[in-house]
Amino acid sequence: MTLLTETHTAPTPCKSPTIRLAVIGLGLRSTCITKLLTQCNPHAQLAVLVDPNPDKTQPLIDENKIRTSRHMATYNSVQDMLKAGPEIDALIIGTRCNLHTPIAIQLAELNLPMFLEKPVCINWEQYKQLEQAYARNHDNVLVSFPLRVTPLLQAVREYVMQGRLGTLNQIQAVNNVSYGNVYVDSWYRDSKITGGLWLQKATHDFDYIHHLANATPTQITAMHSRCIWQEPVSHQDAGSAIVQYDSGFHANYTQNFITRQSAGKRGATLTGEDGSISFDWNTDRFTFQAHKQNRVENVSIKVEDGHGGGDQKLAENFLDLIRKRDVSQCTMHAGLLSAATCLAARDAANQRKVIAIPTPFINQQPMILHQHVEPLD
Ligand SMILES: NC(=O)c1ccc[n+]([C@@H]2O[C@H](COP(=O)([O-])OP(=O)(O)OC[C@H]3O[C@@H](n4cnc5c(N)ncnc54)[C@H](O)[C@@H]3O)[C@@H](O)[C@H]2O)c1
Repeated sequence: MTLLTETHTAPTPCKSPTIRLAVIGLGLRSTCITKLLTQCNPHAQLAVLVDPNPDKTQPLIDENKIRTSRHMATYNSVQDMLKAGPEIDALIIGTRCNLHTPIAIQLAELNLPMFLEKPVCINWEQYKQLEQAYARNHDNVLVSFPLRVTPLLQAVREYVMQGRLGTLNQIQAVNNVSYGNVYVDSWYRDSKITGGLWLQKATHDFDYIHHLANATPTQITAMHSRCIWQEPVSHQDAGSAIVQYDSGFHANYTQNFITRQSAGKRGATLTGEDGSISFDWNTDRFTFQAHKQNRVENVSIKVEDGHGGGDQKLAENFLDLIRKRDVSQCTMHAGLLSAATCLAARDAANQRKVIAIPTPFINQQPMILHQHVEPLD
């Protein structure tokens, strides 16, 4: 043990541990995330707020006891904030869907850790603009996909990655939404803001399906219909899609917005040569059935509130990204790939076609060798 004496040089003081968060659009969702961030880290504080409706944001800050810096800077627009140039350690974009892309593009030059709400874009034009703006610096973005980081999905993925299912041959995913009224009784009704219910809802599901598939989606076909909701509602009340992957297998996904009460269900069954696994976020359970032995494992996962514990994990990952202790678990690549899958599903359903899904930042990805798939009957 070395004893400290007066001749020792004083240790270099640490850089300030304060984390100055800038929130662009402090609504219901970003309030929840900012609250978690300030709860998880005593040094995190809301230091900069950009929102044109300050009368609505202050009550949210007070009710949720969000820690703010002593002199929180407030601006009406991103442009005003950029002109003033306040000190910022990380950005949170929590506006409604149609503004995610233009605001993320305005802030791209800062290259700060960014928490970006989903969907990352709502049309192909935005998709291309966002892909271009982040072509060189997409590592610093965490897209708000809580399902991907839930303890339930991570446990299921562990089974897949450990080879417990053998070679996967299909994923069958279901999202029977028991709170579908939200999408017609609030601002979500306006598809000009949301881009419709593929982008609004399925972006989460396509993301976790791609993550489980561990392969690149190449094409999609889809159908959607409206049998219960009436004009002027323009949203589908049910939709189904089939996605083909470069590894040769396919996934299907169905969403239904008329389901209510305990009929709600969100999860999937994955089938492989050696086993099947089914999981549901409504119960936080999964069941693994070995195909070659008479063996069934039923597992229940205890989680925090907030998207099956996913919000907490997102907050922790964002704090680690800010402190450079971890990489983003939900990258801009994943955000764009999922949005592209939704846009292609929307086109496929509207045009009654099979639509190719582009791979974001394709020139920066390692080459993927496409497995030849023999035509089947
Ligand atoms: N990841 C998830 O699980 C999840 C869950 C819920 C909602 N969301 C997404 O979160 C987003 C926000 O939803 P919400 O319910 O919090 O909406 P909201 O309407 O409550 O909040 C939006 C906020 O943005 C502000 N705003 C509007 N224009 C702005 C501008 N130009 N610059 C800065 N701020 C501006 C509004 O004043 C408001 O405070 C949506 O895109 C939604 O899809 C994601």
